[in-house]
Amino acid sequence: MIKGFLFDLDGVIVDTAVYHYQAWRRMANELGFDISEEFNETLKGISRMDSIARILEHGKVSLPEERILELAKLKNEWYLEEVEKMTSANVLPGIQELISQLKAGGYKISLGSASKNAPKILERIGLAPEFDAIVDGNSVKKSKPDPEVFIKGAEALNLKNEECLVIEDAFAGIEAAHAAGMKAIGIGTKENLPNADLILASFEEVKLEDLLKEL
Ligand code: BG6
Ligand code: MG
Repeated sequence: MIKGFLFDLDGVIVDTAVYHYQAWRRMANELGFDISEEFNETLKGISRMDSIARILEHGKVSLPEERILELAKLKNEWYLEEVEKMTSANVLPGIQELISQLKAGGYKISLGSASKNAPKILERIGLAPEFDAIVDGNSVKKSKPDPEVFIKGAEALNLKNEECLVIEDAFAGIEAAHAAGMKAIGIGTKENLPNADLILASFEEVKLEDLLKEL
């Protein structure tokens, strides 16, 4: 029986996945190569330092560790320029309503994000007080598809893994959920998320009871 929901942040609660892509693309372009949207799918849910390693490998660029750290910092500055402009208007359609339905139904909710910027984003969009627990890039050692972030989320909610349902927009995130013994709803398309237990384009007009029946 499902008692708790673990929410990914980027691409699920807010459309920051686009800002991550733009900032990484800008960095790649400055290094003399491009990254496609298709390649970007493989970066979703992956930590900042694992992402830069994958991008440099993709562009066949080898750099000293110090320069890699500088570039990761620069990418984050570009990314934060967009985050600073965010307000509650950036919360994706249906999310606020879903959270209200979950609260009314007595479900517990935790964040389960790879991002170190998660607390800042939740503050900006005004959703921080809604969460019973926050597990983010500051509290995990291993990047999705490792299940650490969701195992910690279940622990923080005082629930068993199988009592939690994950909401994700990343292939790696759904793999992480399954590795933790949890089902996962994918926000996206069947092509991008063939591993999801249920696919939704968004939570707009979605009723919680209908959703739970389908899983
Ligand atoms: C994940 C995103 O949520 O967080 C990734 O899907 C991102 O694209 C990762 O790299 C780490 O984010 P941040 O904000 O710590 O750089
Ligand atoms: Mg995501």
